[in-house]
Amino acid sequence: MNNQQFPKIAGLKSIKQELIPGIYDICLCGRSSSQPFCDGSHKETSFKPFKLVVEEEKRFSFCTCKHSATLPFCDGYHKQIVEELEDLNNRQVP
Ligand code: FES
Repeated sequence: MNNQQFPKIAGLKSIKQELIPGIYDICLCGRSSSQPFCDGSHKETSFKPFKLVVEEEKRFSFCTCKHSATLPFCDGYHKQIVEELEDLNNRQVP
């Protein structure tokens, strides 16, 4: 088993999702191909999905970059990652 310490960046923007009451497994490892939900891919890592209990129908904004301070919800941190990637792309190679 791979004890991966860092989540994979699954996306660079949030996923808005309306959920009906129920219990949902939300991906935290970033490896799921059915973001924002868990598809079991974390089994190769040390991550576990976040159990989200929804008591009334509600719209959520889920983090896909997996670096939000409010996981599994987006806090806008993905914008910083995008800026850092743009800075890297704009660097002149000597
Ligand atoms: S997708 Fe917005 S903070 Fe991760």
